[in-house]
Amino acid sequence: MHNRPIAVFDSGVGGLSVLRALIRVMPEENYLYFGDSKNAPYGDKTTQEIRALTLRHAQALFARGTKALVVACNTATSAAISELRAQYPDKIIIGIEPALKLAVTHFPRGRILVMATEATLRERKFAFLTERFGQRCEICKCPCPGLVEYVERGELQGAAVEATVREELNGCLDRTPDAVVLGCTHYPFLRGAIRAVVGKTPEILDGADGTAKETKRRLAEAGLLRTGLPGRVELTNSLPTPEIMRLSEQLLSAE
Ligand code: DGL
Repeated sequence: MHNRPIAVFDSGVGGLSVLRALIRVMPEENYLYFGDSKNAPYGDKTTQEIRALTLRHAQALFARGTKALVVACNTATSAAISELRAQYPDKIIIGIEPALKLAVTHFPRGRILVMATEATLRERKFAFLTERFGQRCEICKCPCPGLVEYVERGELQGAAVEATVREELNGCLDRTPDAVVLGCTHYPFLRGAIRAVVGKTPEILDGADGTAKETKRRLAEAGLLRTGLPGRVELTNSLPTPEIMRLSEQLLSAE
């Protein structure tokens, strides 16, 4: 059981930002990554569509004998984590959510910008999160349609991506925020472009490390941590073109 892989799922290549963190925190584990680039982006789909895709892919990943599932996609977590847990009550299932709690810890009365997909920001889970942690803060919700596609194409920097970021943050940058939360796992790969737009001051935060630590905690609790030699990493995708597979390798090893 210890040797079975941890499955890591995202709508595309974005979840590799979480896989990177998982490998940093637990290098001995075996990993099976699945990106659904064929159906990306999820962020502009209906809740029903996102839920159906997530449940279908989770079933296939569990059928491969994985010991845990990390939903490395804020959008899929928002739309389907409750249904996944109800369907697989005995499995270890970890979801990612925008790192609002972390931002509020750093800036208890701060101005916090949350960049995420339209679906993540409209779901109840996000409303709960802001009610729970954001009471004393000023939270600015920034839906960012279009950014995921840049990452899926491997276009991580340059004038076009910066212009899109600027357009999407328009209205939230009249005053400098204290923190910018990257509430989509694709966005950490655009950190340079986002930094160029928001300037030097705001802290840019994401949920990858928190999710990796929580996964480790859950596996330890279940006595399922693997020890010994570094594990294997298998990258798979619903659109396994040479470009996507090359990009996946690149993103996984990017600093
Ligand atoms: N990477 C995903 C997230 O964390 C979803 C991106 C998308 O497919 O729209 O929200």
